[in-house]
Amino acid sequence: MHYSTSGLESARRHVGDEVRVVIESDSDIVLAREHGRLIGKKLGFSATDLTLIATAISEVARNILVFAKNGEIVIREINEHGRTGIQIMAKDNGPGIPDIALAMQEGYSTGKGLGMGLPGSRRLMDEFQVISSVADGTIVEMKKWVNKNG
Ligand SMILES: Nc1ncnc2c1ncn2[C@@H]1O[C@H](COP(=O)(O)OP(=O)(O)O)[C@@H](O)[C@H]1O
Ligand SMILES: [Mg+2]
Repeated sequence: MHYSTSGLESARRHVGDEVRVVIESDSDIVLAREHGRLIGKKLGFSATDLTLIATAISEVARNILVFAKNGEIVIREINEHGRTGIQIMAKDNGPGIPDIALAMQEGYSTGKGLGMGLPGSRRLMDEFQVISSVADGTIVEMKKWVNKNG
């Protein structure tokens, strides 16, 4: 006989570590990376994964700085369907991305970058979503699961 624990699980979904880092200078990007590594390590990610997570955080935080001037990175533990993972949200109220599909293409940049930040981050993480509008700005949500194949 199985008892459903889904109610409890959803109540616990966002309990745990949560860190918000305001992004408005280069040093804030470093801080966000470090928090990503700390939380990721606590959740049991491998050293390699911690580097991938920190790299993805750098890219979305850099985009906040370059394209929106300021915003925030929210990093937290997530628990869904018995899996543990890390969620990173990059939020800003900047100019938004008019064509998300175009922005996700490798080599596309409206700035001086290489246009690899968003597509690269998508590859590094397990789940990747961009919500953006010219009116409200941009949210990039990324997730990576611990022991995905374990
Ligand atoms: N937070 C953001 N706000 C507005 N536009 C963004 C944001 N992040 C990315 N973009 C848009 O998406 C494009 C691609 O981003 P990215 O892949 O990181 O490349 P790069 O930063 O090298 O231009 C950017 O050139 C920009 O037009
Ligand atoms: Mg970029």
